[in-house]
Amino acid sequence: MVRHTTGAVRGGNLPAPTIRRDRERLVSLVHPDRLHVFVRRVCAAMGSSEREAGLVADQLIGANLSGHDSHGVGMLPAYVDGFSRKRLQVNQHVTAVVDNGALAVFDGNSGFGQVMGYEATEAAIERAKAHGVAVVGLRNSFHIGRIGHWGEQCARAGLASIHFVNVAGHTPLVAPFAGADARFGTNPFCVAIPGQGDRPAALLDMATSKIAMGKARVALNKGVPVPEDTLLDGEGRVTTDPSGMFRHPRQGALIAMGEHKGSGLAIVCELLGAALLGGLVMGEDSMRRNTIINNMLTIAIDPEAITGRDCLVSEATAYLDYVRASALREGFGEVLMPGEPEHRSRIDRADGVEVDDTTLSELRGAAATVGVPEAAEALD
Ligand SMILES: NC(=O)c1ccc[n+]([C@@H]2O[C@H](COP(=O)([O-])OP(=O)(O)OC[C@H]3O[C@@H](n4cnc5c(N)ncnc54)[C@H](O)[C@@H]3O)[C@@H](O)[C@H]2O)c1
Repeated sequence: MVRHTTGAVRGGNLPAPTIRRDRERLVSLVHPDRLHVFVRRVCAAMGSSEREAGLVADQLIGANLSGHDSHGVGMLPAYVDGFSRKRLQVNQHVTAVVDNGALAVFDGNSGFGQVMGYEATEAAIERAKAHGVAVVGLRNSFHIGRIGHWGEQCARAGLASIHFVNVAGHTPLVAPFAGADARFGTNPFCVAIPGQGDRPAALLDMATSKIAMGKARVALNKGVPVPEDTLLDGEGRVTTDPSGMFRHPRQGALIAMGEHKGSGLAIVCELLGAALLGGLVMGEDSMRRNTIINNMLTIAIDPEAITGRDCLVSEATAYLDYVRASALREGFGEVLMPGEPEHRSRIDRADGVEVDDTTLSELRGAAATVGVPEAAEALD
């Protein structure tokens, strides 16, 4: 987790961003602490408490550091937009709807997902430690960002966790297997296995679409195509042009990962992550809300209630080494475990996160919208 920083608005003594050209677009390398300062300033201008602003900044910049710009600071303008339209409420806390010890469901009260996700996950950890297992639902939260963040929170506490998530409150974005138009969101799924110390032994964290929606936004902002066979245009034809995802009417659709199996996983994320919890399910009502609602079912399991954390960690380490040693297929350089790309990205990006000029200008616009244009000085 990114620590809270206390740097001045301009980023104190942190190195100034460097700028380079990437396919005719300007890309700035911005120190993560500068981004952290910026996000906290904008959240404070929306009225967020210091704790809330810090949790939002921790998760957004944590996503950038993990290599997931789709869920990083580039989401802040959407949060400001949600706040301006009263879809996002600041300074909320989860409230219990069901509380039976090991089973609980919390309402997120349209609050910042970074706070709702954190509080619901803390409750899951506490209950799993008490009962060996906890099943905790979170419904009606604003966007909860990168789901791996919640898996990491469980893993740091020594727990294994499974997260089924739906996304609703706007038009559907992902076409089901064999479908030509969208019927569900990018419904992420995550499993975390605790490791030694803070780093999970394995962290599978994925959208159930071939690419996350934010990756189409990042590609559009960078002026690059999306990978082959990941998108349909408004007529249901395969395309690499991300612009169709931002066109209305006749919006395109992301293609579900893993053919019929990934499409099925997205559907059970909707059913377990939302329908089971009394959360908003994608459909006509959901489309009219014009917001970003996430619902999440978390199952947290304490290995200490079974064979013990040390035993799980040593089995996991030995097994992952065994898998890693697979002979390589032609064209591949190594076998990676889930979570390894993110771990490497955190090392690579520790001193600078690439932010394209479109995203920078959207961030400046967001700061101006909430009346603190000077907050953008942290990015200069
Ligand atoms: N809040 C929401 O509504 C929402 C919706 C969708 C996605 N998301 C988030 O978007 C992020 C991006 O999702 P994504 O599906 O684009 O991620 P991705 O495709 O980059 O990675 C998915 C998983 O595959 C692993 N992986 C990646 N490359 C690998 C390789 N070469 N070998 C082995 N494993 C590899 C990663 O460690 C990760 O666990 C996630 O953090 C997800 O939680 C959030």
